[in-house]
Amino acid sequence: MTRSIIAGTGAYLPEKILHNNDLAQMVATSDKWIRQRTGIEMRHIADDGQTTSDLAYIAAKRALADAAISADAIDLIIVATSTPENIFPATATRLQAKLGITKGFAYDIQAVCSGFIFAMAQADNAIRLGQAKCVLITGAEIFSRLLDWQDRSTCVLFGDGAGAVILQAQNVEDDANGLPKKGILSTHLFADGRHYDQLYVETDAIGPSKSGFIRMNGREVFRFAINMMVQSIEAGLDASGLEAKAIDWLVPHQANLRIINAVGEKLGLSEDKVVITVQEHANTSAATIPIALARAAEQGKFKHGQLLALTAMGAGFTWGSAFLRW
Ligand code: UT7
Repeated sequence: MTRSIIAGTGAYLPEKILHNNDLAQMVATSDKWIRQRTGIEMRHIADDGQTTSDLAYIAAKRALADAAISADAIDLIIVATSTPENIFPATATRLQAKLGITKGFAYDIQAVCSGFIFAMAQADNAIRLGQAKCVLITGAEIFSRLLDWQDRSTCVLFGDGAGAVILQAQNVEDDANGLPKKGILSTHLFADGRHYDQLYVETDAIGPSKSGFIRMNGREVFRFAINMMVQSIEAGLDASGLEAKAIDWLVPHQANLRIINAVGEKLGLSEDKVVITVQEHANTSAATIPIALARAAEQGKFKHGQLLALTAMGAGFTWGSAFLRW
């Protein structure tokens, strides 16, 4: 069976760092509060001259190097972002040009913090249907430009960054339970637009200008995130006839350490099975999962054949999971 296997990963975090103590100079907050309530220690901020495709480009180059393939091999690029370079065209086409690719196709996905899972699902579908053979998916965000730096309830939570994954078509054997020995097993995507106003950017993309800042009902997002990330993992387990104990690594969206820990606990997973990077980059929206994947891969955490469960929840609300064997 043709399956989508991960051939390489890469990440990029801008050089400029804002520590919690830097923010304590700007709003009524403290390093202690931020660490205790979120687990965040720092966030990276893009330079004024850097764009979303600049961040994606560096992450993509690193993923290509990790996969040891040239950009020519890529026949589909999906950029998951809520901070695109322009309203149109897609940031993915800018990335395509920067990589010197002139064939295949490229487009953006906007599912906010769930964007990378949505991109992975679409890439997997394209590979299994024979529409693409080698897909570059990136999550790339410059959320610092959406932040109200006077609103302590949001400005401490987010950062900028990008992560990239190369998915390749490969013929993979199934195990005795009919599950692929390598690559993506399943993806599950969800949305419920009744929660649109719980987390949004206060501007009309094509209408009169408003603040342009993120507004969020933190407590509601917090509660929903835990429940829906768990639900999406359960959907993936059910689809494959697996139990949570089969998961070797949980790679959740990195927004808040308390959310991550609660999801792990509800699934009965010990802490050493959960990939956590939120402390070093805060919530980079669609970029958190590929950054976490790249970090853990770099550290040699994932072993051949291990089961990874990825899950995210974001504005909309949107949420979903992806299960894969490394
Ligand atoms: O990917 C999806 C994107 N978003 C998220 O995942 C965020 C989800 N939500 C959260 O992570 C949490 O709800 C927050 C971190 C945003 C807030 O944590 P919380 O434990 O839910 O705090 P809270 O909103 O209940 O606020 C507790 C107190 C309040 O003061 P009072 O009313 O108790 O006096 C806030 O005003 O903490 C205050 N507070 C702060 N204090 C210091 C809120 N933000 C800050 C801050 N520094 N930065």
